[in-house]
Amino acid sequence: MTDIRKAGTFKLGDRIVKRLGYGAMQLAGKGVFGPPKDRDGALAVLREAVASGIDHIDTSDFYGPHVTNQIIREALHPYADDLVIVTKIGARRGEDSSWNPAFSAEELTRAVHDNLRNLGLDVLDVVNLRLMFSIHGPAEGSLEAPLTVLAELQQQGLVRHIGLSNVTRKQIAEGRTIADIVCVQNQYNLAHRNDDALIDELAAAGIAYAPFFPLGGFTPLQSTALSDVAAQLDATPMQVALAWLLQRSPNILLIPGTSSVTHLRENLAAVDIALPDDALKTLDHIAGDNAPG
Ligand SMILES: NC(=O)c1ccc[n+]([C@@H]2O[C@H](COP(=O)([O-])OP(=O)(O)OC[C@H]3O[C@@H](n4cnc5c(N)ncnc54)[C@H](OP(=O)(O)O)[C@@H]3O)[C@@H](O)[C@H]2O)c1
Repeated sequence: MTDIRKAGTFKLGDRIVKRLGYGAMQLAGKGVFGPPKDRDGALAVLREAVASGIDHIDTSDFYGPHVTNQIIREALHPYADDLVIVTKIGARRGEDSSWNPAFSAEELTRAVHDNLRNLGLDVLDVVNLRLMFSIHGPAEGSLEAPLTVLAELQQQGLVRHIGLSNVTRKQIAEGRTIADIVCVQNQYNLAHRNDDALIDELAAAGIAYAPFFPLGGFTPLQSTALSDVAAQLDATPMQVALAWLLQRSPNILLIPGTSSVTHLRENLAAVDIALPDDALKTLDHIAGDNAPG
């Protein structure tokens, strides 16, 4: 079994977690809606993740909705003392599986209680406020009203730590005047590097950065350069994509998603890959025009 401690650790709120975690979104049905085709398979992936040493799971009650958290509870409750479950609020699913903004005080409060109930917890470790000003990525706009609601829920003892998702640098700065922000979760991977400078700033501030879609998301990364490097290193492209993220910055916490035990094992083995300088050079060019100058 891979020893994932090799990837090191980083601070997440008041806990120290291993840098290789697991993202649970892929455990719901198609389109992150409804039950999975293979419920036993989903339970097996979660149990294997924790048995492999993973102590950081990313989820949300709007995956399914409710389904993913219920599966996490069934697989892992009562939770190990060192397991940190990070969830997110700010969206509501329509009956047609659509993703809709849900930022009123009532909706945010209900979302925290839904997460508590479905995960079987009295307190949520970390809750990310997931902004929805634009469906396509971060867009400017004040987060004061919803974040103040979340901070009040934290003061009530329902939430231990607060993070932000799908946010701009300006929104993070605004957020830090309202609450202690322990992590940021934005889209970032080898081919999508808009947050390069932001990641370095957050690292300097001791704030964790958990890239979503670390493997490219619903359509995993495809690149000849990535495949060539993987072949040279006798690894898979997905492993190289994860190894690249691990070397990119010490505050990056990985939450690759999979519904397959085989893929999970493969992803964990990314900690054994050392990327030589020429491979790094090739990989750094994949983002092309998206990469910072
Ligand atoms: N804050 C946000 O707005 C937001 C948005 C999206 C996601 N997230 C979080 O980020 C986590 C990660 O994102 P994600 O799961 O959407 O995308 P991802 O980790 O980039 O990629 C998942 C996809 O890659 C496939 N995959 C995984 N390992 C593989 C391997 N070794 N070889 C080949 N294919 C592999 C999976 O299919 P298989 O199931 O077949 O392995 C799935 O289709 C989610 O679980 C969720 O917790 C957050």
